[in-house]
This record gives sequence, C-alpha cells and structure tokens, in this order.
Amino acid sequence: MTKYDLDAIICRENTCSIKNDYRDCEEMLCMWVADMDFAVAEPIVEAIKKRANHPIFGYSYIPDRLYKAVSSWYDRRQGYCYDPKQILTYYSVVSAISLVLISLTQEEDVVTIMAPTYMNFPPAVNGVNRKIIYSPLINRDNHYEIDFENLEDCLSKSKVFLHCSPHNPAGRVWTEEEQCKIASLCLKYKVLVISDEIHSDLIMPTHKHIPFITVCENAKDFTITLLSATKTFNLAHNGVAFIMPGNQEHYQTIKKNMDKFHLGSMNIFATTAVLAAYESGEEWLEQVILYVENNYKIAKNFIEEKLSKIKVLPLEGTYLMWLDCRNLGMSVTDFFEKNAKILGEDGILFGQYGAGYYRINIATSRLIIDKMLSRMEKTYQEML
Ligand SMILES: Cc1ncc(COP(=O)(O)O)c(C=O)c1O
Repeated sequence: MTKYDLDAIICRENTCSIKNDYRDCEEMLCMWVADMDFAVAEPIVEAIKKRANHPIFGYSYIPDRLYKAVSSWYDRRQGYCYDPKQILTYYSVVSAISLVLISLTQEEDVVTIMAPTYMNFPPAVNGVNRKIIYSPLINRDNHYEIDFENLEDCLSKSKVFLHCSPHNPAGRVWTEEEQCKIASLCLKYKVLVISDEIHSDLIMPTHKHIPFITVCENAKDFTITLLSATKTFNLAHNGVAFIMPGNQEHYQTIKKNMDKFHLGSMNIFATTAVLAAYESGEEWLEQVILYVENNYKIAKNFIEEKLSKIKVLPLEGTYLMWLDCRNLGMSVTDFFEKNAKILGEDGILFGQYGAGYYRINIATSRLIIDKMLSRMEKTYQEML
C-alpha cells in the first residue's frame, strides 16, 4: 500500500493557481476555491508523465476503456452501473448544466434550485435565458433540512430541478428518504432533474451517497446525472465531465447539440488522467477522505471549544466546511479576511440565504488547519 504524504505543504505559487495567485497579501491563507492542496495520486502523475514522454500530441479519440472505467467506478463505489454507451464526455459540469437546459427545455422555463446555492448555478441557468426560483433550506438546530412544502410550491411552477448532491455549500449528503420525496414531487409535476453529483465521491465515512437515478423505479426517465473525476481526484479545470442521461431520448437530444458545436472530445492528458484515476486512484481517495474527516473533526472541536459564537455545520460530504457566523457580531469578511488573514468564501456569494455564513476549504495540510485555527482564535480574542 502507498501511504500518501497529505501533511506536505506544497508551494503553488506561480503555477497559475486561481486559489493561490489571486490574493492581495503574502500572509493570506488561501482556503477558498474548491480544489485540494494535496499532490495528485501518483498513478495519475506517472500516467501523464509517461504519455508526455511520447513526443506527439495529435488528435486523439476516447477509447471504450474510458467509458467502461467510468461505469465500473460508479458501480463499485456507489452501487449503480451507468450504461457505458449512455455516457457523454464533456469539459465542465457547470457548462453541462447549460447544455442540458438548452437541449431539453425552452427559454423562460423555470428551474428550481435549493438555497444557499453553489455560485455558478445561477449564471449557468440565467446565461441560457431560463428563470430560477429558489427553495430555501432550513437550518434547524445547526442542520440543513429541506422545506418540502416550499419545494413542492416551487416545483409546481418549474420544468427543472437542479439538484446539488451532495450539497455545496451546505455539506449535506441527501438521504434516500429525502430524495424519494423529491422524486415523487418531480414525478407529480413532470419536472426534469439535473443531478449534479460532482462531489459524490467525497463522502464522510458515516454517510452514504445515493445516486438520484436510483431513488425510484422510473427516476431514469427524468434524471440527467452530471459527474466528473475532477473534484474527486484534484484535477479541476482539466477539461473533464460526464453527462449521464438515464433516458435514451435525452441522450440523443443532448448528443445532437454537442455534435452541432463539435463538443465532447477530451484532450489526451485528460483521457490519460481519468483512466489512471478510475483504475488506480482508489487508495489515494480513501486516504484523502479520512484526512479531510480528521481536519474537520479537529476544526470543529476547536471552534466549539474556543470560538463558541461560530457554529460548524455537520460535514457529511465535500471538503468545504460551512460556518454559521450570524452571531459573531462582525462581518465575516472583517473577521476572516481583514483580521485573521484567512481567505475562504463569504456566504453571500452563495446567495442571500448564505448571508452571515463562511465557507472554508479544508482539503489541505493539517499544518494549515492548525494555522487557520490559531489565527481565528487570536482574532476572536482581540476583536470580540
Ligand atoms: C456543485 C458543483 N458543481 C460543479 C462544480 C464545478 O464543475 P466544473 O469545474 O466541471 O465546471 C463545482 C465546483 O466547485 C461544484 O461545487
């Protein structure tokens, strides 16, 4: 077994890293955009190096082996076998949302999204002239729950439900029961579900991801699942996404639009990385999940003990810790960014229902987590 050194602090400066190069002062701890500070799994790096050693990078095709690797990965990890012949490759999950909307809905159609919401959902929907209504989640005793009454009202006026599962930024891994209820409402109002499951491999050990397509007998007919190896294996922006329509007709319509714009190919390094990831990356992923869980537990215990005005929401999935700072008595940007020099993300970026919250990416070395906590404690003592 390879033991990965996840404690290592790897300098990312001058690598065109959005997370690290876009900061306004040297001492800022960069804990915002959702990629990891961990070195990519060795089998992936080795596979890319091996391919790069061949000096010709011409037009490439996507081998059948890749579709089989994707299907077999989700079968093994999540218990659902997507038909390899019904997987469309694409370059980005966010862009796939727009493509699916263009393919299967009309302008002015309404899309329901639960709020707070991942900040790139609204532009992906508005950009193709579809309308959004938000169904706010309820933070009940520090745990987000779905307001089914409100959701039903929203779905009754919608053509699409844009599902975020697991939920970014709320950190929820939706249960089978919750998703069955969503599915029955979608059936009732003939609503199509775009289920963005990009975070579905990053599930804390006491939770289980349930693919939306499995939650009822005919979910296949109205579910388009979006997946990717990028979040799972720290390959963000490497041009990989998978569109998995459960229904043949949906597949054909989306594919037609992709062909129209000559989309759907993957560059050779992305293909190489994805194959290595799904065939040999599992050991790395298991270690990353346990490491993130440990970071979360350390942060949660520390904050609960020493910064009691901040509440840590349960992290069921993702590596994005969501903090309820509504009782802090000062703005989150003043506390974290101006004073503690921690650059996470102001909850308002996730819409009005995120106001007073703060998101911190904890897929980083334990040493950075310790630094973050001591800066938070110092600021807390000085400011409050
Ligand atoms: C829910 C969700 N969907 C999509 C993405 C981004 O996907 P992509 O980079 O493939 O567009 C993210 C990134 O954080 C995300 O959280």
